[in-house]
Amino acid sequence: MKKILIVGYGSIGRRHVKNLLEYSKYEILILTKRKIKNNKETRIRYFDSLTNVLKEKPEIGFITNETSFHIEIAIKLAKKNIHLFIEKPLSNSIKNIQKLQKIVNKNKLITQMGCNWRFHPCIKKIKSIVEKNEIGKIYSVQVESNSYLPDWHPYEDYRKGYAAKKELGGGILLTCIHELDFLYWYFGKVEEIFSVTKKQSQLEVNTDDISIMILKFKKNILGEIHLDYFQRPDFKRCKIIGSKGTLYWDSSINEVKFYSNNKKKWIKKIKLKKYEKNQMYIDEILYFLKSVKNKKKTINPINDGIKTLEISLAAKKSSAQKKMLKIN
Ligand SMILES: NC(=O)c1ccc[n+]([C@@H]2O[C@H](COP(=O)([O-])OP(=O)(O)OC[C@H]3O[C@@H](n4cnc5c(N)ncnc54)[C@H](OP(=O)(O)O)[C@@H]3O)[C@@H](O)[C@H]2O)c1
Repeated sequence: MKKILIVGYGSIGRRHVKNLLEYSKYEILILTKRKIKNNKETRIRYFDSLTNVLKEKPEIGFITNETSFHIEIAIKLAKKNIHLFIEKPLSNSIKNIQKLQKIVNKNKLITQMGCNWRFHPCIKKIKSIVEKNEIGKIYSVQVESNSYLPDWHPYEDYRKGYAAKKELGGGILLTCIHELDFLYWYFGKVEEIFSVTKKQSQLEVNTDDISIMILKFKKNILGEIHLDYFQRPDFKRCKIIGSKGTLYWDSSINEVKFYSNNKKKWIKKIKLKKYEKNQMYIDEILYFLKSVKNKKKTINPINDGIKTLEISLAAKKSSAQKKMLKIN
């Protein structure tokens, strides 16, 4: 039986393991610091040593540990010819990123960033509408993403998790990189950025909890992004304004609609009556496993992870320097 190695058995690691058990036939090797007492699942084995688990020759590695440790482990797995699924964000700094990229290229590895929102039907629908040029010439985009950090894992103390800690790669800007990711997917390179990224609320975190960004894409599209994790209820929206009309996604009703300037009315593009959040995660891993099987480049290889990380780090720098920065 082919093997998948999971590095990091926290919230997202567990989700992937559950989905892999249900939707794939791989044996699952889990590298974790914690002591697991009862293992009733015959397809899972637990390890506490990287050297030992690598002797099992896994074909694929899922990197699901804290953000600041992603690159270090990714390099070790890439050197062993292991295809990589890396949770977003790729890292919290550019350290060793070129090194990882070189090994990945040399060993012709299939890679994918864990940006599940690219698999959400509404986000995919927007992508196809943009590609078909239905909005006309795109002038600007507004994106908002809000949530309340203590609600993410109510069973844990939010103050102890990576998202609350700078040293583990937390903070709203890096942790909620999904919006930058799908905007990069839609519109490509960002040329200039201005941001205010800081701690604003009374949450007990040592990271930023709000990030407001103004972007200029190379395609001359202007973007406004608002991210925070101090408000309830969870909400996301995306509004794209073009010469033919305005496209609007509202996460609370799972709908994408288009206001046609010609017809002078809103036209429903997609409306999901019932959507289980886990479906995005199932779809992303099934797509990745298929890409590995067919040795086919994925829609979100680490190169995209590098680009979105560079944009995030530039936003941080812009905020610290209080000025608009160019991105190469
Ligand atoms: N795509 C998404 O929607 C999504 C969602 C969540 C997170 N993520 C990303 O995935 C990465 C990990 O996030 P996460 O939410 O899974 O973090 P998490 O639950 O805090 O887990 C991170 C690490 O903390 C350790 N840990 C967690 N709970 C533990 C416990 N009860 N006892 C002992 N150790 C424990 C685990 O270490 P071991 O390594 O030793 O097991 C685990 O790898 C981050 O980079 C994050 O940005 C992505």
